[in-house]
Amino acid sequence: MNNFKEKLKNLFPIESQTSDLDKIVLLQTLDLIRKKNSYYKYLEIGSFLGGSLTPALMDKKCKKVLSIDKRNQILDDERNENWSYKNVSNALMVRKINQYKINTLKLDTYDGDIKEIKNDEEFDLIFIDGIHTVENCFSDLINSLRFKKKNSIILFHDTSIIFKAIKLCLVFLENQKISYKIIKFKNSEMSGLFFGSYIKNNFKKNYITIENFNKFCDNAQDKLLLHQINNRLKIKFKFWRFLKNKYPFKLELLSKKTKRSLDFHK
Ligand SMILES: C[S@@+](CC[C@H](N)C(=O)[O-])C[C@H]1O[C@@H](n2cnc3c(N)ncnc32)[C@H](O)[C@@H]1O
Repeated sequence: MNNFKEKLKNLFPIESQTSDLDKIVLLQTLDLIRKKNSYYKYLEIGSFLGGSLTPALMDKKCKKVLSIDKRNQILDDERNENWSYKNVSNALMVRKINQYKINTLKLDTYDGDIKEIKNDEEFDLIFIDGIHTVENCFSDLINSLRFKKKNSIILFHDTSIIFKAIKLCLVFLENQKISYKIIKFKNSEMSGLFFGSYIKNNFKKNYITIENFNKFCDNAQDKLLLHQINNRLKIKFKFWRFLKNKYPFKLELLSKKTKRSLDFHK
């Protein structure tokens, strides 16, 4: 177990917003790609400090890593939770990677959104971990399709937050008659879309555990609603001496824009 933790630490030396199980899914996916190709290319949308880039950067079989990140923003996710990525630049990420003496020669970075990129280089693995709103994630996925090889894999992080975007993508893929297989990895926030020859992959053999995607989405829907209520509902209490008022509290639904006054927690 300690050896295993040590291995994860070596492959992911930089702080990452992924859990150990998410990391394992990423490693198992890289393994799958390594087995089928003499070399491969990795594209990541949302790199933050570079925490999820390092295994591909360290891998000799990986010939190119493209990191796309629209830097320096403060954004809300689908839970109406506020995330600040201010003062985290591509340069800071590259400095972090260099600290661990990881070669960055094959690393290309783009500060912006994938939809702005003009060329259409093709990648074997695309990891979508940008801003977790349905709109953004859907946009990331449809714009990624142009960059994927025929035989390729697209991984998503934070499935419990952006599952609706994935569902919309499935509608789109079916409409476009693009064959795919959707897999949800159990006890992890990762899910994956498999294309071409990867569709026939033996998922039970190659991955730790998988679960039913639609069942997972039904549960995630309830949890997401609770997050949204907690983040947007303000309860104002009034204390009456003789409780004249039948309802001594008032509920107020904050608009997405004003919800930041979280005095609900005070
Ligand atoms: C959840 S973090 C990525 C975490 C990273 N993969 C890790 O393992 O630590 C999300 C990142 O998406 C970036 N981002 C925000 N909007 C974006 C966009 N439109 N396209 C790409 N990245 C975006 C943020 O700057 C932030 O670095």
